[in-house]
Amino acid sequence: MVKLANALTTLGLQALVAYALPEACSGVCNNSHDPSIIRRNDGTYFRFSTGGKIAIHTAPSLTGPWAYQGAALPSGSSINLAGNQDLWAPDISLVGDQYYLYYSVSTFGVQDSAIGVARSSSLDAGTWTDLGSTGVVSSAGAAYNAIDGNLINEPGTSNYFLTFGSFWNGIHRVRVTPTQTHGSVYQVAFDPSDTAMEGPTVFKNGDYYYLFFSKGSCCGYDANRPAAGKEYRIMVCRSSAATGPFADKNGKSCQSGGGTLVLGSHDWVYGPGGQGVYQDPTNGPVLYYHYVDTRIGYADGQKKFGWNKIDFSSGWPVV
Ligand SMILES: *[C@@H]1O[C@H](CO)[C@@H](O)[C@H](O)[C@H]1NC(C)=O
Repeated sequence: MVKLANALTTLGLQALVAYALPEACSGVCNNSHDPSIIRRNDGTYFRFSTGGKIAIHTAPSLTGPWAYQGAALPSGSSINLAGNQDLWAPDISLVGDQYYLYYSVSTFGVQDSAIGVARSSSLDAGTWTDLGSTGVVSSAGAAYNAIDGNLINEPGTSNYFLTFGSFWNGIHRVRVTPTQTHGSVYQVAFDPSDTAMEGPTVFKNGDYYYLFFSKGSCCGYDANRPAAGKEYRIMVCRSSAATGPFADKNGKSCQSGGGTLVLGSHDWVYGPGGQGVYQDPTNGPVLYYHYVDTRIGYADGQKKFGWNKIDFSSGWPVV
């Protein structure tokens, strides 16, 4: 069945591939654009999302019930750029005994952007201290757009990488401390024939680092729906080294258009993306994302939180 699905994917017949439906969700399942998830030691799941100065929701399990708790940064960001009251694309990590929340300051379609970071020891609303810019910044003409940061630690080392970007020249990478850059930026994924790729997530499983990213048109589907197949979808590449190079299932370099489809539109799910991957203590590795439920509506505010367990048994993620 997996082989058949792969063959169909290769033929571009994605609609025929059977994806699992999103797992159940109760409580507030919208207000979840670009979700980032972490489970605290007491068993409470925290979900951070774009909008509302980084909205925080909590739940006793991934299925909910999700309840709104407040904004992570109610005063916006101290970064002096347009967009500092409209923060995007949160990414949550635990480093030592502190939680770090990366966020983007930008405006839609503009390259004047920065990735900022805030810190808390508890994750709760009202406990976040904004530390401002990480030093990952861009302006018009830069080789990338400084948005959509994702932190990963190379296990067993003190090496931290922020993978980010971009919609401009693909996905990039820089070493961080983790609050400041510490090295130079390099590209890890790019498709010269379709540069609409962003929102990377790096996840280590077994021998490989998996680079997930969202490809296609993310937003505003109620006003302007892209051609079929050009809407958001979740792709993956992998590498045996934290620093890359990354290639897809066919061995094609992800710096020259490679990328294997993990989850596209199916059934009543449309435009899944803004994904994250989490090693959940209860469910094992999970892929989570936002998506349009076509039975509800295509507006950004109507997008819902979805997640699925990942089967890595083939060496590639299957949901
Ligand atoms: C989000 O979901 C809540 C129910 O949890 C609903 O009342 C609200 O209208 C929804 N918002 C949008 C924009 O669909």
